[in-house]
Amino acid sequence: MATAADEVREVFIDGLKNAHALENQALALMDRQIEHLAHYAEVAERLRAHRGETHTQITRLNQILESLGESPSALKDAALTMSGNMAAIAHGFATDEILKNSLANFAFENFEAATYKALIVMAEEGGFTTAIPLLQQTLQEELAMVAFCDEILPTVIRKYLYRKASGGQASH
Ligand SMILES: [Fe+2]
Repeated sequence: MATAADEVREVFIDGLKNAHALENQALALMDRQIEHLAHYAEVAERLRAHRGETHTQITRLNQILESLGESPSALKDAALTMSGNMAAIAHGFATDEILKNSLANFAFENFEAATYKALIVMAEEGGFTTAIPLLQQTLQEELAMVAFCDEILPTVIRKYLYRKASGGQASH
């Protein structure tokens, strides 16, 4: 019979695997945008920086999973319903692509932040103390990205409206 500690461990490992899949989804989502952004340099630049951070975040997850005896290379990263939907929202080549992507990024980064907040609580409850600083580091990066998505939104919207009104290419 599973003890309470086993249960926490199982939920924690599950959560780590989901976060791993989520981060890989994030990479795909950002890549699609970075390649295609022409007129929103500040967004492209921030996405490029966060892409680098995301790689480090995946390394941290791998490190934690390994410390729990899980092999990260065996992870299948089955697309999560949530992130799958997000990726679908953020499809390129729509006439208002930058708007759709900005909203999707905002939602996605908040979802990631919530994921790490939850993982930290699980790590605390399960006594996985070495994992906590790693998860906190990632949470800070996600929260910084949330703040960026929040702060840049009015600028992006205004720029889109202005470019569209002046007959310029506004979509990306
Ligand atoms: Fe992120």
